[in-house]
Amino acid sequence: PIHESHSHSVSSLSVDARSLQKQIDELATFSDTPAPSVTRILYTEKDVLARRFIKNLMGLSGLSIREDAVGNIFGRWEGSEPELAAIATGSHIDAIPYSGKYDGVVGVLGAIEAINTLKRSGFKPKKSLEVILFTSEEPTRFGISCLGSRLLSGVEELAKALKTTVDGQNISFILAARSAGYAEEKDDFYSVSLKKGSYSAFVELHIEQGPILEKEGIPIGIVTAIAAPASIKVEFEGNGGHAGAVLMPNRNDAGLAAAELALAVERHVLESGSIDSVGTVGILELHPGAINSIPSKSHLEIDTRDIDEERRNIIIEKIRQSASAIAKNRGVRLTEFKIVNQDPPALSDKSIIEAMEAASKELNLTHKKMISRAYHDSLFMARVSPMGMIFIPCYKGYSHKPEEYASIENISNGVKVLAVTLAKLSQG
Ligand code: GLV
Ligand code: MN
Ligand code: MN
Ligand code: MN
Repeated sequence: PIHESHSHSVSSLSVDARSLQKQIDELATFSDTPAPSVTRILYTEKDVLARRFIKNLMGLSGLSIREDAVGNIFGRWEGSEPELAAIATGSHIDAIPYSGKYDGVVGVLGAIEAINTLKRSGFKPKKSLEVILFTSEEPTRFGISCLGSRLLSGVEELAKALKTTVDGQNISFILAARSAGYAEEKDDFYSVSLKKGSYSAFVELHIEQGPILEKEGIPIGIVTAIAAPASIKVEFEGNGGHAGAVLMPNRNDAGLAAAELALAVERHVLESGSIDSVGTVGILELHPGAINSIPSKSHLEIDTRDIDEERRNIIIEKIRQSASAIAKNRGVRLTEFKIVNQDPPALSDKSIIEAMEAASKELNLTHKKMISRAYHDSLFMARVSPMGMIFIPCYKGYSHKPEEYASIENISNGVKVLAVTLAKLSQG
């Protein structure tokens, strides 16, 4: 077993790469868009089927399963000292529209396979090991990112806000959750939050979603920090009118205000002077959306991130000022400027970094320390327990599009590093 002899233990680890690839491929079929794209949105039928698939695998691995009110799923392998805080790992399986089959999935199926690998090697954990499937890391349906882990980390305003949250079709969060078998009558989502110290460590395996590891030929990335994400919803309103009849001087076009703000976002991000500042307008909607009608309403959603929280906050402030100035100049109303989330960055824990580095070394896999520019449930799990993340290379760094790809060799290496890391932390 691993805690007795490292050289023996590491060589006795064998990942079942064929089964893992089969599971990744099968999970990808639970999608609302045709392959190779994957679209799996929170609490839809495909999400429910995918969850069932994961719970079945957890059961086959001998894990005991618990689900909370929002649908976070926990699979536990009881350790020999079950009263000690467990070591957790996991990720998400929801997929944004027209994305790929590896984002999040590698950290859920890979975690279950890491457990299987440890079981086959004869390892027995001291601290219990838990695999977590987090609900809705992606903000697609209700506009809230890392929903499950945010609630686990005890964000109380969110538990309250969910009571009145609706999706784009005006379906309430509660009804959607109930349709998927969660949020029973009396649930108020406060029940989801975990006490600090509920876990003694959390480790997430994920594709890099960037090009560095592949380019440098390094199989393992060890994340030291996760960039600080923020998102903003903006709405402008004008008078609209007939595209032929209303002359240019008499217009207040809400669509042009949105276009101008989108360009201002780019400008403010570039003004920071840092390559680490990014900003994206990924949603831009015009009402009524007819070619011969001046937009009377526009809706933008802005994503901005930075390693440096203060620099990110300055960008947000500039965007706010531009939104007001543009509204004033164009005679439209700025009817909404809502900061949906403005999260601080998270740092990985030193002792978990050391465990991941030691695991890579024992497995003879080179590694590189790096930051995560994408956010992950780890951003919030870092508030519950010490956190660490393992990255693996992915093709050209592609992610959030159908071309996303990671080789099964790279995935298997990641699973091994995860397994050895979990084993070390469990014995510690
Ligand atoms: C999550 O997927 C992100 O946008 O980083
Ligand atoms: Mn993602
Ligand atoms: Mn992800
Ligand atoms: Mn992410």
